[in-house]
Amino acid sequence: MHLDCKPIVELRNIERTYYVDAKPVHALRGVSLQIPENKLVILKGPSGSGKTTILNIIGGLDQPSQGQILFKGKELVKFSDKELTLWRRKQVGFVFQTFALIQTFSAFENVELPMRITRVPWRERERRTLECLDIVGLRKRASHRTFEMSGGEQQRVGIARAIVNQPALILADEPTGELDFKTGIQIMNLFRSMVDEGGITICLTTHDPAFIEFGDLVIELEDGKIIH
Ligand SMILES: Nc1ncnc2c1ncn2[C@@H]1O[C@H](COP(=O)(O)OP(=O)(O)OP(=O)(O)O)[C@@H](O)[C@H]1O
Ligand SMILES: [Mg+2]
Repeated sequence: MHLDCKPIVELRNIERTYYVDAKPVHALRGVSLQIPENKLVILKGPSGSGKTTILNIIGGLDQPSQGQILFKGKELVKFSDKELTLWRRKQVGFVFQTFALIQTFSAFENVELPMRITRVPWRERERRTLECLDIVGLRKRASHRTFEMSGGEQQRVGIARAIVNQPALILADEPTGELDFKTGIQIMNLFRSMVDEGGITICLTTHDPAFIEFGDLVIELEDGKIIH
C-alpha cells in the first residue's frame, strides 16, 4: 500500500484542553498526523482517547488549544467563520453514529437537504439525490420515511447525505456503533468501495477490531496521544 501521496489533512502538534470546574482535561496532547488523499483512515483507541475530538477539529467543529491544521496545504485557523462554514459545506461530509436524520423526512428529502442549503437548483438536486441513493443501494427506498427504514438503511441514507455535495473528505464518528455486526460490515464495504472508486477520502472512528482491516491506514490513540 502506497501511503506516500500528498495529505488532504495534516495535523501538527495539536493540543486540545478542556476546562471542567477550572480543572484541565487534556483531550489531545500533541497529535501530529497526515491523512493521505483517496484513502480510508481509521482512528481507533479506547473510550476517552480523543477520537471524536480529532474528527471535530479536522471538520472545523472545534478549535485546537494549540497546533496547526492544514487542509490541502491551507491553514484552517486562518479561515474566517464564514469561510469555515462555506468550506465545511462544500468539502466535508459528516456521518454520525446515530444517523442524525430528520424523522419526518423521506430518504430523498434527507439526502437533498444539504443541497438546499448550498442552493443547488432543483433539477440538479433531484439528479444528485437519486444518484447518491443509488450509490448506497437505496433508490427504491427514496420515498420511505426515516422510521420506515432499518438501522443499516438509515445509516446508508446518512452516507448518501454526506456525499451529496461531493465533498473531498468524509468524517464518520463510530458509523457502525449502532449497527449489528453484519450490517456494520456492509457499511464498511460501502465506505471501502467509495474510496476505491475514487475521488474521496474517509476518516472514521471505530471501537470494533473486526473493522480495522478495511482501513488503508490505522491510527491508534491512547490518552490523547498517537501510540501507533
Ligand atoms: N466538551 C468537553 N468538555 C470537557 N471534556 C471533554 C469534552 N469533550 C471531550 N472531553 C474529554 O476529552 C477526552 C477525549 O474525548 P473524546 O470524546 O474525543 O474521546 P473518544 O475517543 O471519542 O471516546 P469514545 O470512544 O467514548 O467516543 C475525554 O477524556 C473526554 O472526557
Ligand atoms: Mg467518540
